[in-house]
Amino acid sequence: MRTFVRCVLLVPALFAACAAPPPAPAAPGPLLIATWPFGRIATDAAMAALQQGAGRLDAIEAGISEVERLSCDGSVGLGGRPNAAGYAQLDACIMDGPGHRAGCVAGLEGIVHPIRAARHVMEGTRHVMLVGEGARWFALEHQLESANVDDLPAKKQAWVARERRPADTAGHDTVTLLLLDRDGHVAGGCSTSGAGGKLPGRVGDSPIPGAGLYVDDEVGAAGATGLGENVMRYCGSYQIVEFMRQGMSPQQACEEQVHRIARKDPRGYQLDICFLALDKHGRFGAAASNGRFPFAVGRDGRSELITIEPVTPR
Ligand code: GLY
Repeated sequence: MRTFVRCVLLVPALFAACAAPPPAPAAPGPLLIATWPFGRIATDAAMAALQQGAGRLDAIEAGISEVERLSCDGSVGLGGRPNAAGYAQLDACIMDGPGHRAGCVAGLEGIVHPIRAARHVMEGTRHVMLVGEGARWFALEHQLESANVDDLPAKKQAWVARERRPADTAGHDTVTLLLLDRDGHVAGGCSTSGAGGKLPGRVGDSPIPGAGLYVDDEVGAAGATGLGENVMRYCGSYQIVEFMRQGMSPQQACEEQVHRIARKDPRGYQLDICFLALDKHGRFGAAASNGRFPFAVGRDGRSELITIEPVTPR
C-alpha cells in the first residue's frame, strides 16, 4: 500500500517534468558578415542600427550606404571604378528572407546610394530590377541623393570617338553584407561600381538575385565578390544556399561552390571570385578561388576581420 501511494505521488511529478517545455535555445543572431576590410564599416554601421532598434532591412541599408558614401576602396559608390568611357555605372541588390523579396538596380548613373534605390524597387514597385536611365529616373523620383552628371554625355561622346576597347579590366570589389537577425530571419544586400574599365552597359553578378546575392529564409544567405562574369554563369550564391539546404555548413558550401566552378571553367581556379555565407543556426563561412580574402564578422556588438587563404585546388 505504501508503495502504491509513493507511485501515485511520483507519477504526476514525473509527468510535469516531461511536459515542461525545454529551455529556449539562445538566439543565434544577430550575426553579420561582409566582404573585404571595408566590410567592417558595413557590419559596424549595421550593428549600430540594430542596437538602435532598426529592423534587418534598415540595418542592411545603413551598412551598405556607409560604404557607398565613402566609396571604399574605389570600388563602391560614385567614387568607384569608372567604366571604359570614364564614368561610374553602379549595381546593387537587396533581398529579404520573409516573403522572399528582392529589389535591384543596374547600370545606375549619378546616384549616391544605389542600395536605397534597390530597396525602393523592392518595397514600392511590382518589379524586381530597374536598369540604366529608368533606374536613374526612378531614384530621382524618390528624391535620392544625386550627383551632377551633366558632363556624362560629353564623356560618352569622347569614348565613342576613341577606339571601343575596354581600357582596363582590373579591380572588381563589391560590398556584400549578410544578416541573421535576432528573430532568426535573414536578409542581404550588395553594391558595386563593377569591374573597372567595363564596357558601358555591362552588368555584373551583384544586382542579379541568385548570382551575387541570394537569401532564403528557410536556410540562410550567400553572397559574392570578384569578377562577376565568373559568378553569374554559375548562379554562384543560389547554389551555395542550396548546398546548405542539403546539409552542408556555410564553410563547406562556399568551398564546394568554388571547386564546382573551377571544375567546369576553362580558367580552373584562376577565377578571381570569393563567396561568403551564413545559415539559420548562426554559422558562417567563406571561400576564395585564388588570392586571400579578408571579410568582416559582426556579433555580440563588435566586428572583427578574418582573412582566409584560397581553397586548395582538388
Ligand atoms: N562582382 C562585381 C562585378 O563583377 O561587377
